[in-house]
Amino acid sequence: MSKKPIIAVTRVLPDAGMSMLAEAADIELRVWPGDLPPNPDELAALVAGVDGVIALVTDPIGGDLLDRNPSIRVLSNFAVGYDNIDVVAATERGVLVCNTPGVLTETTADLTFALLVSAARRVVEGVEYVRAGKWQTWSPTLLLGQDLHDATIAIVGFGRIGREVAKRAAGFSMRILAVTSDPTPRTDSETGAMYTDLDTALKEADFVCLNVALNDDTRGMIGARELGLMKRSAILVNAARGPVVDTRALVEALRNGVIAGAALDVTDPEPLPADHPLIAMENCIVVPHIASGSVATRSKMARMAATNAIEAVRGNRPPHIVNGDVWQNRRQ
Ligand code: DGY
Repeated sequence: MSKKPIIAVTRVLPDAGMSMLAEAADIELRVWPGDLPPNPDELAALVAGVDGVIALVTDPIGGDLLDRNPSIRVLSNFAVGYDNIDVVAATERGVLVCNTPGVLTETTADLTFALLVSAARRVVEGVEYVRAGKWQTWSPTLLLGQDLHDATIAIVGFGRIGREVAKRAAGFSMRILAVTSDPTPRTDSETGAMYTDLDTALKEADFVCLNVALNDDTRGMIGARELGLMKRSAILVNAARGPVVDTRALVEALRNGVIAGAALDVTDPEPLPADHPLIAMENCIVVPHIASGSVATRSKMARMAATNAIEAVRGNRPPHIVNGDVWQNRRQ
């Protein structure tokens, strides 16, 4: 009898995905039981001899790990982003990389917009004020924030998620600037966004939302120079990846009033240590990388990640491949 293929899962996923994996009678499952990610040694032990890995954004996977485990045929990321995986190394070794695109687009845009509204209207400060027992009367000048309607939003990264952020911004009657690799001035027919270059967008926007993937072009894209171009009243929202922003430069900009505020779903490092200056700053909101975190969306992501892994170890084409060349060039 031939051995069943093994799938390692680096954290317990929502039931929708775990039950699919458990019910796949032709597959053996190996699940990391911890609430925290496996450390590199633990990850190496977990994936030893497996055929597929369902990984999280917290699991760095590079060529070394794949060289030590040539049995791995698929890395199925429980995320749309896959910057935790060295895709070039995986491709060179004929390992499929899969992700969960599409299902989290709206949910991530919702949270991006929630951060924007919260920062603009000082919602978190308001909650803290009430919790601290400071609310004594209605006041004409208490916690005054910024209007969203008629303000200008710059959306840096106009892919699936950026476009959904734009639709929400249109609903708030905002002027929308879109930044992509092609700055040719033109208007997006679906959202009314006007394409422009990054510097112009930074100078003109009241709110700057980052929705780019992390790669060599976007790492450190927002540093001291870029923050310096922004209006002093502007708010930066990052729901992309922490390293898109230079953290030190952001701390200085918030401290010195170079910009008015920031709202971050993602940080660099991640998690931020509890004593990190960004956490104590009143003009900065930090939430723990929860943009895709709705019950429905995480269940869809779990099903998708499970399907990608199961199909790949069965020798079938998984639905969401990042490095299609590996599938094209596979040995039959
Ligand atoms: C992603 O999917 O890339 C998110 O950051 C994690 O859900």
